[in-house]
Amino acid sequence: MAELERQHVFPSSWQLVGRATQVSEPGSYLSGCFAGEPWVVVRGNDRALRAFYNVCRHKGREVVTGEGSAQQLVCGYHAWRYDLDGKLRSAPRMAGIQNFAREEMGLKPMSVACWGPWVFIRQDGDGSSLVQDFPEVDTTVEQSGWEQLRFAGRKSWVIECNWKVYVDNYLDGGYHVPHMHPSLNAQIDIASYRTETYARSSIQSCNPIEAGNTSTDRARALRIGERAIYAWLYPNFMLNRYGPCLDSNHVVPLGPTRCRVDYEFFFDPDSLGDTASAQAFIKQSIEQSDLTQQEDVAICESVQVGLASTSYDRGRYAPQVERGEHHFHCLLSEDYRRALDPPPAP
Ligand code: FES
Ligand SMILES: [Fe+2]
Repeated sequence: MAELERQHVFPSSWQLVGRATQVSEPGSYLSGCFAGEPWVVVRGNDRALRAFYNVCRHKGREVVTGEGSAQQLVCGYHAWRYDLDGKLRSAPRMAGIQNFAREEMGLKPMSVACWGPWVFIRQDGDGSSLVQDFPEVDTTVEQSGWEQLRFAGRKSWVIECNWKVYVDNYLDGGYHVPHMHPSLNAQIDIASYRTETYARSSIQSCNPIEAGNTSTDRARALRIGERAIYAWLYPNFMLNRYGPCLDSNHVVPLGPTRCRVDYEFFFDPDSLGDTASAQAFIKQSIEQSDLTQQEDVAICESVQVGLASTSYDRGRYAPQVERGEHHFHCLLSEDYRRALDPPPAP
């Protein structure tokens, strides 16, 4: 299944690779590997952002590693040089060989899109734009104002579960919140939890608890704001917008029973200011997020143990709450079916 997903689920999906500020200058690049596909994103001298498979057309070495700035992308193995637009510029000691068309040996392209503070790539070159894929989420976060948000930090968690177990847990409509997240549960009005599903995304949302008059109550109410929004983009990206906070969760598969979740935290300096109390709020908010994440990690790792039991074959959906999860499984099954049962050639 992991291989099926690598070939038939992820290539047509948008994957987060970084923030636009990391590749703002001509020549700046960022590289990495997602589900076995090495990628590089680079800003050209024409200021266009491009994405490529980070795979040398010679012997397949990754051309660059990490991030940096360069006028050409040079593979360290035998020094083949690629321009920032991916064209092969020079290949030492290849002169005079037959059937070698340098213009056909450029880096293979991927799609790239900037959205909010981020850069996304998609292996498939053709297809709809990111905003066309997720218009409802785009409108919702646009209305919540995100241009002014400031990056505050990043964290990664390696979790001993399949990536889908983590996504399922996220999409259960708040079902587990009262049982597993006592601290978060004290901040939100679980009765107000709603899930809306769209073509390739869903939005869960809920209200904060009715604020009392203690300072703890006020701090909780400030963190959640008017309404918390938990948006999910098929198949593995989540964006949480609440009060002056935004955090993103990108779920990266690392194998059939392991994944990594990359968190990024952003805050609104306009509403928080730069005061010491704003810094304290940011610190506390990230600590709350960590606590919730630790609770979710424990759940997901335990579910993975149970799923491996010979006694378990399938569960049931709670219709009032697990609509987002069901919707995710329907989208996945469409991709699986397309892969296993391709339409007959015309
Ligand atoms: S593998 Fe890149 S130059 Fe040989
Ligand atoms: Fe949770």
